[in-house]
Order: sequence, then structure tokens, then C-alpha cells
Amino acid sequence: MAIGVFDSGVGGLTVHRTLVERFPTADFVYLADQARAPYGGRAGEEIVDLTRAGCERLFEAGANVVVLACNTASAVALRRLQQTWLPGYRKQLGRPVNVLGIIVPTIEAATGLPWEHEAERRGDKIEKLDVIGVFCTVATAGSRVYEIEIDKRRQDLAVFSEACSGLAGMIEQGASREDLRALIQSHADALKTRIGRWPDRAILGCTHYEIVADLFREVLPPGTPLIGQPEAVADALSRYFERHPEYGPGQGGARRFLTTGLPGHQSGLVETFWGEAVKFEAA
Ligand code: DGL
Repeated sequence: MAIGVFDSGVGGLTVHRTLVERFPTADFVYLADQARAPYGGRAGEEIVDLTRAGCERLFEAGANVVVLACNTASAVALRRLQQTWLPGYRKQLGRPVNVLGIIVPTIEAATGLPWEHEAERRGDKIEKLDVIGVFCTVATAGSRVYEIEIDKRRQDLAVFSEACSGLAGMIEQGASREDLRALIQSHADALKTRIGRWPDRAILGCTHYEIVADLFREVLPPGTPLIGQPEAVADALSRYFERHPEYGPGQGGARRFLTTGLPGHQSGLVETFWGEAVKFEAA
């Protein structure tokens, strides 16, 4: 049995890399839905259907747990799939399978609280002490998931999402760092204008953005902490395997990279991030 990692494209590799470091002997299968990437500008129903198809492909390829290394799929599709599709699909498959998202671990890391914790609602005005900026896709920003879920837990945190339209697609296509930097700069500036000051911390709430995390660091004030999604997901998965040993991944150290798009090598941008050429096979 393997750990499945799913994203619309290459962004999930940022999570995959940290998961491999954390579970070095586990078997992994990665699926990039590059034929349909990017997801961030698509309608909700489409994102649900595409995410379900991606999970099915990963379960067919031997995964027993699929990590949605995609904020857009996690924000828009995960709850629907867990409630309406997964129970019946498990029965059909006749083995335990599960799908885990990226938002819960990120919110736990941002709030310093377990997901189960909800703040007691008080009537009095609460001072917002800390401002978190979330850079994400249009679909993730539209879901308002970070605003809603963080506010339930920490009313002293203010959350501002900045929809970076087109950025994931440019990263997917391997755009030049100059072009990427200019777009990232414009979104950081827009966020600052909206907040009225720089955020105290930031979430790169699209896994593609982690590939160019250094460019976000360049445009944000020096030392602005970035809440790391890959580490948060790896921590959450460790805890999950402790609670659910039945989902424990295999021990063969297998690494497969599948794509619905063109098989072969990825862009130079991805190779620089990955440290070597990463070759995908047809899904
Ligand atoms: N990497 C994904 C995310 O975390 C998807 C980006 C996209 O396909 O637009 O949101």
C-alpha cells in the first residue's frame, strides 16, 4: 500500500518532498492532473469531479491514503467527497481508503491549536493582534476557508486572502523568475494596501507557490514568517498513522510520478526546486 499525493500539477511536489523525508521507506505514488491544470480558476463542481477522478486513479495505483497536496481541491472538494462519495467508494473497493487535505494541518500550524478546538464566542470586541496574509488561488480565496476556520479558533487573528490569479499556471508552465517576481510583487503590494500594513505572517496557500517561496521572501518585509504547509502536512500525517495503523504505507520505498498531461521531464523551475530532473509517466 502506498501514500498517494495529488495536485493539479507540480505544486504538490513541494509536499511530496517533505513527506518522503519524513517517511523514507514508504511507497509513494504522485498524480499531477496536468491535462486540466490549473484548477484555481475553475468552477466548484468541476474541481469536485476532477479531484474525485484523481483520487480514484491513485487508489487504483495502490494508494490507501491520498493526500490532497492542493489547497484548491482541499478547500472546494474535500468535504463533499468525504461526505458523499468516499463511504460508498470504500465499500465498492472492499478495503480501507481515505483522503486527507492540506487546510486542516495549515490552520493547526497557523493557530497553534488542534482542529477540534473552537474558541468560546464572547460578545465583547476582540483586538486583532496578529495579521495573517494568505496567498492563494481564486477558488481558495472564494471559499473563504482560511478566514472562516481561523476565526472559529482564534478571534485575535485577522486573515486576509490575496487571490493570485494566473500565478499557479505560470509556475506550472515554468515561467521566468523575473515574470514571476513581478506578479508576486504586485500581489504582495495589493495585499499590503488592503490591510493597510504588511501582514505579520503569511501562508503560501497554494502548493505551487512554495516552489518560488524565495521570491515571496524577497518581496515581503525581511523575516516575515511563512507558515510552512509541507511540514504541517507531514506532522499531521505522522499523527494520523499513529491513530490509524491500518493505513500504514508500504515499506518498499517506491516512487512513481504520474501525469494526465504530457509524460516526461518538467520545467527547469521545477528541476531547480527538486534538485534533479523529475520524470513523469502517463497516468
Ligand atoms: N497547487 C494547487 C493549490 O494548492 C492548485 C493550483 C491550481 O491548480 O490553480 O491550490
